[in-house]
Amino acid sequence: MILRDKISAQLPEWRERVKTLLKEHGETVIDRVTISQVYGGMRDIKGLVSDISYVDPAEGIRLRGYSIPEALKLLPRPEGGDMPYVGGLYYLLLVGETPNPEQALAVEDEWKARSVVPQHVFDMLRALAPQAHPMQLLSQAVLALQSSSVFARRYEEGMKKDEYWLPMLEDSLNLTAKLPGIAAFIYSLKYRNGIVPHPDPERDWAANFAHMIGVKDKTYEDVARLYFILHSDHESGNVSAHVTHLVASSLSDIYYAFSAGLNGLAGPLHGLANQECLGWLLDVHKKFGGVPSREELYKFAWDTLDSGKVIPGYGHAVLRVPDPRFTAQMEYARKHFPQDELVRLADLVFDVVPQVLKEQGKAKNPAPNVDAISGALQYHYGVREFDFYTVLFGVGRALGVTANAVWARALGQPIERPKSLTTKMLEEAAKGQ
Ligand SMILES: CC(C)(COP(=O)(O)OP(=O)(O)OC[C@H]1O[C@@H](n2cnc3c(N)ncnc32)[C@H](O)[C@@H]1OP(=O)(O)O)[C@@H](O)C(=O)NCCC(=O)NCCS
Repeated sequence: MILRDKISAQLPEWRERVKTLLKEHGETVIDRVTISQVYGGMRDIKGLVSDISYVDPAEGIRLRGYSIPEALKLLPRPEGGDMPYVGGLYYLLLVGETPNPEQALAVEDEWKARSVVPQHVFDMLRALAPQAHPMQLLSQAVLALQSSSVFARRYEEGMKKDEYWLPMLEDSLNLTAKLPGIAAFIYSLKYRNGIVPHPDPERDWAANFAHMIGVKDKTYEDVARLYFILHSDHESGNVSAHVTHLVASSLSDIYYAFSAGLNGLAGPLHGLANQECLGWLLDVHKKFGGVPSREELYKFAWDTLDSGKVIPGYGHAVLRVPDPRFTAQMEYARKHFPQDELVRLADLVFDVVPQVLKEQGKAKNPAPNVDAISGALQYHYGVREFDFYTVLFGVGRALGVTANAVWARALGQPIERPKSLTTKMLEEAAKGQ
């Protein structure tokens, strides 16, 4: 299999590189840690390694060194399609090289061969409470697949440590292959008739999601590709990525680990923000009966802040510029449906809200993040069930966290165990200054 062979070929050099770094420079100090960081969610503490992606505060995410516009340009795309194959992106994340079309299609073929979701997963989802949030369903579905973990079985059989990554790769391919079908089933179960068409062997991974979810407009295939690529990875400190890594560091398999990561993604400060953002846009739209004037929007934004709320879709923990994932989606919308009212409104918000946030002077980054637009695109295509948007995010996020998990196993990253202190100890440390 191409992914296994490509990673295998790189491993000796990578392992030597890490071994030498640790042996010769293991005691080198790279950062200092302050009390506010210790008490403040470990913000900015450099304590994780990922070679899959890096968020540059001034530039946004780089996937294997490529910016979003570069990756979208370089990755192979289907004939007539505007956006690249997600299989090509997965190849890039796992292998670290830009694939040619055959290599991207080889990943797509791997996914096709592994895409059948066991019946017990559907049965289990049907048995859950009808009011269960779609993210609960997704997390449970991933956990239900754990019984088929190749890693767990091979570990029981006593495999060698330097082989751990191989079943991790198998599990990751098996998991990611099934996610579009699982997500489409959740969508149909919650909001339609519970029936999902079979995947179409002629379509790629993302296009099949578009097909199974029942969106007829062919251009939604491109939006699905774009959405999954943009949400795939955002270095390793965000909650979903970090939780997945943390759980997997105990040698739990990817099903246990990613299910936990999804539970983190379900939180309002993480993956749920995109639905809140669309809700805010719709509130504005409803209040003014369409796209308001600049002045009206300016006042509405201030009213939101004055009522003690944040303006969703704006600000970021790391980024200090407009999120390139926002820009990519905004450009797509402006090109393909510039007259859409929500797109016009999102554009106006982009014009007005950074100024408002600057005047307020609190947010370190007054620019839009990915969530400021992604819901508006889904809404345009008739995917209007807000609750579902975090599931879309989760399907995309699986690509990044599984690629990281494969490499963490391959490079023998150990169990995570940071040290905690008591408040008294911090007070004493402060006095000692
Ligand atoms: C993303 C987010 C959680 C980052 O938080 P952060 O790293 O603490 O951001 P900052 O350091 O810039 O926050 C400093 C202050 O500005 C405020 N601020 C940041 N973004 C804001 C926004 N969009 N609207 C109003 N206030 C905001 C913070 O709430 C904080 O206020 P406080 O000092 O009273 O607690 C934050 O910007 C936010 O809540 N944004 C809106 C929700 C959102 O879009 N989430 C999706 C993220 S991808």
